[in-house]
Amino acid sequence: MPARINPSILAADFVNMQRDLERIASADLVHVDVMDNHFVPNLTFGPQMVERIQAVSPIPLDVHLMIDDPDRWALGYAELGAYSVTFHAEAAADPVRLARRLQAIGARAGLALKPGTPVDDVLELLPEFDQVLVMTVEPGFGGQSFMPETMPKLARLRSAVDAAGLDVWLQVDGGITEETIVTAAENGADTFVAGSAVFRAENTERQISLLRDTAAE
Ligand code: DX5
Ligand code: ZN
Repeated sequence: MPARINPSILAADFVNMQRDLERIASADLVHVDVMDNHFVPNLTFGPQMVERIQAVSPIPLDVHLMIDDPDRWALGYAELGAYSVTFHAEAAADPVRLARRLQAIGARAGLALKPGTPVDDVLELLPEFDQVLVMTVEPGFGGQSFMPETMPKLARLRSAVDAAGLDVWLQVDGGITEETIVTAAENGADTFVAGSAVFRAENTERQISLLRDTAAE
């Protein structure tokens, strides 16, 4: 299975963002965590910052919205050119309508699930989405430990996607390291978000290929 590595710039140096974007130029996509201090107890940045990141980033943007009311705010990120826009199932009033509107603008639509959110109701929505994000930590902060109890959910999504012959990417986000990436890959993930594991490394390019090779083994 191909392994996409999306470094999360939550672990970057916010005042040296352009330099840090260049450090991850060999990655597949740059994962951009938008937090509003309501949906999660942390605050990052909004559309103005993401627009600048989009303008200077060597690789396309994978925007992860940890915000309330994505039905209202998500479209702006697609309009500024994000490659994918992922919003939370727990926050969206009408996920299917929002996915279609994002796709109409030209973005891939993603649905994210917090660790405690069951997968049952999501399975029937799979054909509407381009990717599903299984959170492997409680959203809000980088540097937390991977939660293996989220793996059965991922495995169920992988079976459902394959059984229906869909091309839906399955993404994991939180606590992904050279060790945990193996577990996530075994349970069906094909797209891996890694913040601290990439930016903590002295040689970020080498770390990205190490993660990619380890996941693809
Ligand atoms: C957490 C964010 C993640 C975070 C991952 O709420 O969604 O993208 O940056 O960071 P690490 O890889 O350090 O767990
Ligand atoms: Zn994220």
